[in-house]
Amino acid sequence: MSDTRAAAVRPFELDGRVAIVTGGSSGLGAAVSRALAGLGARVAVVARRRDRLESLAGEIGGLALGGDLAEPDRIAEIVPEVADRLGPPEILINAAGNRFGTERAESEPLEDIRRTMDLNLVAPLLLAQQVFPYMRDRGRGSIVNISSISGRVGVPGIPQASYAASKAGLSGLTSELAVQWARHSIRVNTVAPGFFRSEITDSLYDSERGAEYLKRNIPLPTEGTAEDIVGAVVWLAGDSGRYVTGQTIVVDGGWTAR
Ligand SMILES: NC(=O)c1ccc[n+]([C@@H]2O[C@H](COP(=O)([O-])OP(=O)(O)OC[C@H]3O[C@@H](n4cnc5c(N)ncnc54)[C@H](OP(=O)(O)O)[C@@H]3O)[C@@H](O)[C@H]2O)c1
Repeated sequence: MSDTRAAAVRPFELDGRVAIVTGGSSGLGAAVSRALAGLGARVAVVARRRDRLESLAGEIGGLALGGDLAEPDRIAEIVPEVADRLGPPEILINAAGNRFGTERAESEPLEDIRRTMDLNLVAPLLLAQQVFPYMRDRGRGSIVNISSISGRVGVPGIPQASYAASKAGLSGLTSELAVQWARHSIRVNTVAPGFFRSEITDSLYDSERGAEYLKRNIPLPTEGTAEDIVGAVVWLAGDSGRYVTGQTIVVDGGWTAR
């Protein structure tokens, strides 16, 4: 590699840094885990489906940690376990998330609202609290939350009130933590994807009406993939993003630019 190329690539390298990625068993979390490992990080992947985590961890030389992020007691065990087995975490990617139910706002059940908040907003905050002392002691850290454009704009035809509220909440959490923890050089950012194909959105892409809806609303001509979101996450995770904090970066093929 030429010196010029090496200097350009260096800020993206993550050699030896310990990263925790939630939602590592599929979709964006799996794609981000592969990219972080490819850049040299030691990655712990967290989700409920252990078989998938084991297989990914084997592939990337990482650590598989099964757990339900709706359970605060399990969340409290995850970060100390990573610190013990891989070393103190310097990167946390909160990618696990879901949408429960398809009810319109006026009839969304309280139980679904609470489940959505617990997984999409409370778990990222609890994990951020857990990694804080390690990052403070190390004198640096990067937390990237994965939200959604639905935290910024209403999305016609797809009722998701509590999901949208939880994702907007991540942006508020992001700017607040960024300001509180900047003195320790801990950066906190959010990446807000538009639509990309994954287990959550497969049925939308597979239906003729859904595919047409996406095509009509996304200015860029190609279909979004998890890999299209990864670049922004990787940029924010390492030194390449070292002067960026408190931001929500939208990666949506132009959906919100219209
Ligand atoms: N796909 C899109 O178009 C889109 C758009 C905007 C935002 N997003 C956001 O992007 C993130 C990744 O989603 P994706 O599209 O990659 O979907 P995905 O393939 O369904 O991935 C979701 C991940 O979250 C994990 N998860 C769900 N519930 C969990 C729980 N209770 N405890 C632990 N892990 C749990 C799942 O693992 P297990 O099932 O194994 O637990 C899975 O690894 C989510 O936060 C989503 O809201 C996606």
